[in-house]
This record gives sequence, structure tokens and C-alpha cells, in this order.
Amino acid sequence: MTGPVEDERAVAADVPFATRAFEVIWPEAPLPPAPRWPPGSWLLLTDEHPAALGRAVALALALAETGDEALSLPQDDFGELPGFLAGRPVRGVVFLTGAPHAYHDPEDARELLRTVSSVVARLDRGVRFHLVTQARDEPGLVFLRGLIRVLACERPDLRASIVDFDARSDVDTLARELRADAPEDEVRWRHDVRYAARLTRVAPAAEVPAGPGAYVVTGGFGSLGLATARWLADHGATRIVLSGRRGGVADLPGVDVVVVAGDLAEPGVADRLIAEATAGGLALRGIVHAAGVFTEDAEAVWRARVLGTRRLHEATSESQPVWWLLCSPATALFGSPGRVAGATADAWLDAFAAWRRSRGLPAAITRVGAGQVSPAVWRPYFSAVLEEFVHHGEEPGSP
Ligand SMILES: NC(=O)c1ccc[n+]([C@@H]2O[C@H](COP(=O)([O-])OP(=O)(O)OC[C@H]3O[C@@H](n4cnc5c(N)ncnc54)[C@H](OP(=O)(O)O)[C@@H]3O)[C@@H](O)[C@H]2O)c1
Repeated sequence: MTGPVEDERAVAADVPFATRAFEVIWPEAPLPPAPRWPPGSWLLLTDEHPAALGRAVALALALAETGDEALSLPQDDFGELPGFLAGRPVRGVVFLTGAPHAYHDPEDARELLRTVSSVVARLDRGVRFHLVTQARDEPGLVFLRGLIRVLACERPDLRASIVDFDARSDVDTLARELRADAPEDEVRWRHDVRYAARLTRVAPAAEVPAGPGAYVVTGGFGSLGLATARWLADHGATRIVLSGRRGGVADLPGVDVVVVAGDLAEPGVADRLIAEATAGGLALRGIVHAAGVFTEDAEAVWRARVLGTRRLHEATSESQPVWWLLCSPATALFGSPGRVAGATADAWLDAFAAWRRSRGLPAAITRVGAGQVSPAVWRPYFSAVLEEFVHHGEEPGSP
């Protein structure tokens, strides 16, 4: 991830890339002792999955053992939240999600996002909000961290957190986590050890193999995509397939340029990209997924980013590239007020890249700061990213 780039000095050759790149790591973060509170109340909300309902019941019993009371509200009554909370001194609102497989389809993940967002919108100041998952690395749940990062900017009063548990963790651990009221907002429990997300500088990683072969660049006529295509052409690409909904024209001397017009989220478009790239038996070396839209229209954002990524994943099941770079803005990492659609879509991408790597498939993500990068700056900047980036998101130090 690179930080904001404001002008040419920021990409001058003598500015080491490593000083501008960040990643998330997960050091151990032991739970602090719980504050000495008198018994209090918690509001437990869930999605409609039986696993979440069952865990909420068990959590209520665990909280009761510590003297606390657990209240609940069915999903149909979420509209009543403000009235329900008024006059009740609730210590925290906890939203528990069900089994990860329920959210593998991005449409289901977005529906969950709508539900959680509707809860958050109804919360008053002063109530802490906790999201509780057992995500097992499922992007359809992990992506909710994008919401938490935006809430850190938009609603700091909620002190929103996301806590992810593995299958070993019992509800007593969850009750201790809630009662500790710890400051961390992204927590993972793995094998009974607690980890918390931290931003740290990232060391430069492996070089990207460019050179002869075929490449696919989605969003190929956008500023990022075109800069990438030029960089690949300069580094000896044989064929570059450029795509966008409207298509376009690109002059890349010495390169076999193929243009595929179409919405990447539509069935068949990603397959055409891969078929064109590998026509005649040419090896597919790299994919750069730079299709995206700058808007808060969640439908458009998720189509280009999330559905587009899924289509590319499916289209490459038989012919994996050597590398696959997902381009994403910094919002998923740092949060950004008013950018829930972008931040959650890009958090999904991040989680999906990790999910692919955990299955031995190539995927790397670069999260680029600032939308104001001028064309004069962008190309050398992106070259630096491509040459030095390809760091694998948050693997190092991950539990
Ligand atoms: N440029 C920056 O400074 C910057 C900084 C940080 C992050 N980023 C991220 O990098 C990505 C690309 O940025 P950019 O500046 O190159 O954006 P851009 O100039 O707006 O280009 C985006 C490209 O994506 C294509 N596209 C959008 N939706 C699509 C879909 N559903 N299917 C296929 N193609 C689609 C667009 O072409 P059509 O409209 O013809 O489909 C366009 O060519 C974005 O996700 C952005 O958030 C950019």
C-alpha cells in the first residue's frame, strides 16, 4: 500500500519506495483486564443464520454468569432500535454473523452490509458497536472490516470493532473480549491467542515478472490501466488485452493489442479476455485488475470491483496467470468518510486475494493512495509499484 502522492517530488528516484508503503500486520495483543463495572446490559443482534442465533443464546448465558444481562431484538424489529435503546443503559450492541458459506456470493455479502449499516445508522452516541464473525477467511465476511475502518472516521463515538474467532474459540472468550472494552478495533482470536491489526511500513518485496507473454488489463482505458499497459509494453509484453465497458484505442508499438469491450461483471466477458490473451497458445503471464468507478453508487462499485474479480477468478480456473495484481485505493486500509461502498468492496478484494493465496493461487493487491495523481506522476509511480510492490497484503505476521 502506498501513501498519498501529491507531486513529482514524492516519486523522485531518491525517495525510497519502502518509506511510502504500508501493510497490516497482526501482532499478539493480550486482552487487558476488564474494567470494574457493575452488572450491565448488552444488546445482541444477529443475522438470520441458525449458527448466529445459537451463538447469541450461548453468549447470553456466558454474560449472565458474569452478572450481565443480554437483550435481543429480532431482525424484523431493527427499525425499533432507537426506541428500544432509549432509556436503557446498554453497554454495547453486538452483531453476530452466521456461517461464512452463507456469504460467499457477493450479493449475500452486500445484503449483510445493508443490514449491518441499517443497525449502525440507528445507534445513538455513546453505545459501543461490536461485529462478531467466525469468518474462516471468507471474503464475504472479512470485507466488513472496510465498514469498521470507515466508521472509525465517520462515527468515532461508536468505537466500532470487528472481532473474528476461529472454531476453537468459545463464547466465554467472546464474553471476556466484550467485557474488557479493549481499544483495538480489529481483533482475531486464533488458537486461544488474541491478535490485533496494526499498520506498519512494508519492506520491498519480489520483482514482478514482466517480459514476453500475454497480459490482461481490466479498466485498460482508465488512467491506471493505460499506464500499466504502457509499462508492460516497455518491458517486452507480446500481447496485451485491454478491457472496459466502452472499449477504446491504445497505441502500444510492438505489442499485439487486443480490445475487449464489455462489463466485466457480465457473464462471458472475463472468459473472452482470457481466451483472447491465450489465443494461439501464448502463455498468460499477468493480470492487472484496474477496472473501477469513483462513485458511491454501491451497485456500480461492487460490479466492477467485486463481481469483476469473481468473474476473472472463474475465467482463469484452467489457465492461471503467473501473477495477478488487484488495484485498489487506500480507503479500505485507512477508511474514508462517506466511502462505505468503496472501502467495503476493496476490503473484499483484499480478503479475496488472501483467500486465493491460501489456496496456492497467485494474487497480490496494491492499495494506492490519493485520487489526485497527475498523469505525469502516475506512470513512474505505478512503475515503482509494479517493480517493487508485489507484497502480499497482510500475510507477514498474520496468525
Ligand atoms: N488513479 C488514481 O489516482 C487511483 C488512486 C487510487 C486508487 N485507484 C483505483 O484504481 C482503479 C482504477 O483507477 P483509474 O484512475 O484508472 O480509474 P478510471 O480512469 O476511472 O478508469 C477506470 C476504468 O475501469 C473501467 N470500468 C469501470 N467499470 C467497469 C466494469 N464494470 N467493467 C469493465 N470495465 C469497467 C472504465 O471504463 P468504462 O467506463 O468504459 O467501463 C475505466 O476505463 C479504481 O478502482 C480506483 O479506485 C486509482
